Amino acid sequence: MPDLIAVLDFGSQYTQVIARRIREANVLSRIYPYHTKASVLQAEGVKGVILSGGPASVLTEGSPRPDEKVFELGVPMLGICYGEQLMAHMLGGKVGKSTQREFGHGTLTINKKGKLFAGLPNTLRVWNSHGDRLEALPEGFEAIASTENSPYATIQDAKRNFYGMQFHPEVAHSEMGMELLANFLLKICKCKAEWSMASYIEESVQKIRDTVGEKNVILGLSGGVDSSVAAALIHKAIGKQLTCVFVDNGLLRLHEREQVEKLYGDHFDLDLRVAKKSELFLGRLKDVSDPEKKRKIIGNTFVEVFDEEVTKLKDKGDYGFLAQGTLYPDVIESVAIDGNPAALIKSHHNVGGLPEHMKLSLLEPLRELFKDEVRALGAELGLPKEVVWRQPFPGPGLGVRVMGPIREKDLDVLRAADAILQEEMLANDLYYKVWQSFCVFLPVKTVGVMGDERTYENVIALRIVESVDAMTADWARVPYDVLRTISSRIINEVAGCNRVVLDISSKPPSTIEWE
Ligand code: XMP
Repeated sequence: MPDLIAVLDFGSQYTQVIARRIREANVLSRIYPYHTKASVLQAEGVKGVILSGGPASVLTEGSPRPDEKVFELGVPMLGICYGEQLMAHMLGGKVGKSTQREFGHGTLTINKKGKLFAGLPNTLRVWNSHGDRLEALPEGFEAIASTENSPYATIQDAKRNFYGMQFHPEVAHSEMGMELLANFLLKICKCKAEWSMASYIEESVQKIRDTVGEKNVILGLSGGVDSSVAAALIHKAIGKQLTCVFVDNGLLRLHEREQVEKLYGDHFDLDLRVAKKSELFLGRLKDVSDPEKKRKIIGNTFVEVFDEEVTKLKDKGDYGFLAQGTLYPDVIESVAIDGNPAALIKSHHNVGGLPEHMKLSLLEPLRELFKDEVRALGAELGLPKEVVWRQPFPGPGLGVRVMGPIREKDLDVLRAADAILQEEMLANDLYYKVWQSFCVFLPVKTVGVMGDERTYENVIALRIVESVDAMTADWARVPYDVLRTISSRIINEVAGCNRVVLDISSKPPSTIEWE
């Protein structure tokens, strides 16, 4: 097994970021609840322990503490923010209330480089976010760097290899934070940089097998990155014990169902059940024009169909688990993970939502990963680029891209136009450069002329955006020549459309989707 670093989680919103930075340094990291017994960590053979930050104050009675014996494990330790204060407080130093919360950038002046700052400049811009401050050091410790507000911004006990930092080296705003953490991991803990996605797969496969045992697992496959990677990983672990259900809700893109069947059924030899339910979905959506009502109908019908499919699957015996491709950013916005006391931020549509009577436990093997890590994992598992780097596609599909009531023939027009757009985006090397590119069907008729004839047909809008996280977005500056080709191909090749318009709105104040 690769060398392991334990991150004890005191509820910081950055705990997973610490774990991720450790993986970036090619070292295995595991997050443990803060109260994990030292004996457990010892049995796991940890090479170092990181105490995360957290929202509590060490001065408050009952605030989270680690097992005192972790300080006697004989391995290097690093306390970050609350973790530093804990270390100082528990080892005999003094922490006091600061009159003012230190939040944002500060300049770190390094007075003694030691192993921690080896190879780094003498000053660094770092990111602070803390209330309390260190006032006196425990025996054996010395301050090795300071900021404007704190003489104890970094402390060390070089003999025991204990280090503390008031700031957050793990966040991107901290200059050279990655190098700092790498020094701790490689020079102080003496970890070998041997962890890789391949070893992650190995470990996950074992974990999935241990969790699942003889039971069966069901997964709703959408064809998107997250559910596809989850499916490929679980399939590698338990093969035919995994059943994937793909629901054709009638709101898919051109040939989408066939592509999913081909890739997963043929190439991955997955037990894939396809529920062809477009009539049911489109019937229920008839005459519905309110976008939120559409979403609700599509979501509820999906759950119903999924439930029905699971009932039909009794040929394989009972199903114990429902697998989901939940990622860490979905989790942090929804629940406190692993007893992590982090405050709940907001609920998210991907987590939860199936009827309780299904009595399935959740299996979420991507729960600790970030999107780019999931992509790397997908590639390592052999998923093709078109899946790993696929643009996001909303759950309600084309249902929110046909404005107003959804009619089969309008969906056909939209599908044909959208296929041309994707073809041209790929051909012009733009598909993977933008966040999303898609067509929207407008139920507006305009006059046109084709040959000698007057036409009176619908309008297709092109929505092509750049974004990092979909929270904000801007319209992509696609070259005019490419736009011209897309427009003329759609108008010439797609019956039912005689005009193409380009959406040049940014988010905010607009949104990416039109509904
Ligand atoms: P908006 O339109 O809110 O979209 O700017 C932001 C991102 O979310 C996607 N989106 C959805 N995804 N269910 C989903 O799974 C939905 O109901 C939904 N609505 C929007 C959208 O495609 C974009 O990437």
